[in-house]
Amino acid sequence: MKFAVVGSSSSVQLLKQCEGYTVSIDSENNDFNLFMESFPELQVIFVELSPAWLSYIQAHLQYLQSKPIVYFEYTESNIRINSPLTVAFENIVSNYYKVQTQTQGQIGYLDATTITLTCLNHLNKSNLDQVRALEVGSWTGCSSYFLAKAINSLGSQTGTLYCMDTWRGSEYWNYDIAAYIDIFANFRGYMTSYDVYRYITPVITDSLVGFSMMRDDFFDIIFIDGDHRYTKVYSDIKNALQKIKPGGLLMGHDCRGYADALPSEFLQSNLEKDCAFYQGKQYSCGVLKALQDFFGCNYHTVDGGSVWYKFISPEDKSALLLPN
Ligand SMILES: C[S@@+](CC[C@H](N)C(=O)[O-])C[C@H]1O[C@@H](n2cnc3c(N)ncnc32)[C@H](O)[C@@H]1O
Repeated sequence: MKFAVVGSSSSVQLLKQCEGYTVSIDSENNDFNLFMESFPELQVIFVELSPAWLSYIQAHLQYLQSKPIVYFEYTESNIRINSPLTVAFENIVSNYYKVQTQTQGQIGYLDATTITLTCLNHLNKSNLDQVRALEVGSWTGCSSYFLAKAINSLGSQTGTLYCMDTWRGSEYWNYDIAAYIDIFANFRGYMTSYDVYRYITPVITDSLVGFSMMRDDFFDIIFIDGDHRYTKVYSDIKNALQKIKPGGLLMGHDCRGYADALPSEFLQSNLEKDCAFYQGKQYSCGVLKALQDFFGCNYHTVDGGSVWYKFISPEDKSALLLPN
């Protein structure tokens, strides 16, 4: 079998030693299509499982000429191709197009892969008996599906995903639709049909009220995708920092990069909007500013995606409990 590798230089070095190795694809390779045409004998592309390499391959998917992709884990100089993690990852993300099309969810393919992989990696490392995750903003359940599956795909299937939502949209976002369609009934129907409702505990309330009823240091994972206006998302992040365990994984949606890459007038004048356009690209200024206030630039994003994530250390937790 002739194969190419997309991954870090260390993982490529290891796979180069295998019989059949043909070539590695690096992130500088701009003319990907030409590159693929130059190696017609390739049968498989191996892609290192990390948000950065997933983002790279996602951006070049159209040039892969239908070559199959095999994902591998690279850990401490070891390559694992069919590990429980890679198998779980492929099983979950292979349902993306069905889930997104049916729920009409707000989560792109790269975001779904980032959510799934970051959760799986975190749980793989933490070795938890029982996982508790919280989602703020579930709507019809697209992101909920990936979270619920990821927390129940390694080890015992006892993870609980608390889905907290008013299921009424918000002042600027789908308020009208939610007034005449029972969005929660749709959510429950989809989650049941994907066989994940058994992992879900719905919390039907405004997040401000919901957070006030939850225990501190309770959740292993929190994903925030509720109201994107600055004051609301600031309060969701602040509350989440209180409710997440030290060492937990905090994630959220609708974040393109970092606030300091945008002109401050654009940022300031759009803080209380769901989103705004700058040079043809969509930004949720409230999300970016709230992240900047709490973390500076000290959080992760993925090129071309909208998910942000950060592992909350015990120090982060105490230092970040800022006054309002
Ligand atoms: C962008 S949608 C979530 C999309 C969803 N994560 C997906 O994958 O399709 C935002 C959600 O936040 C909910 N929401 C808005 N304001 C909220 C609030 N104050 N408390 C709880 N949920 C809220 C809305 O009802 C809506 O379902």
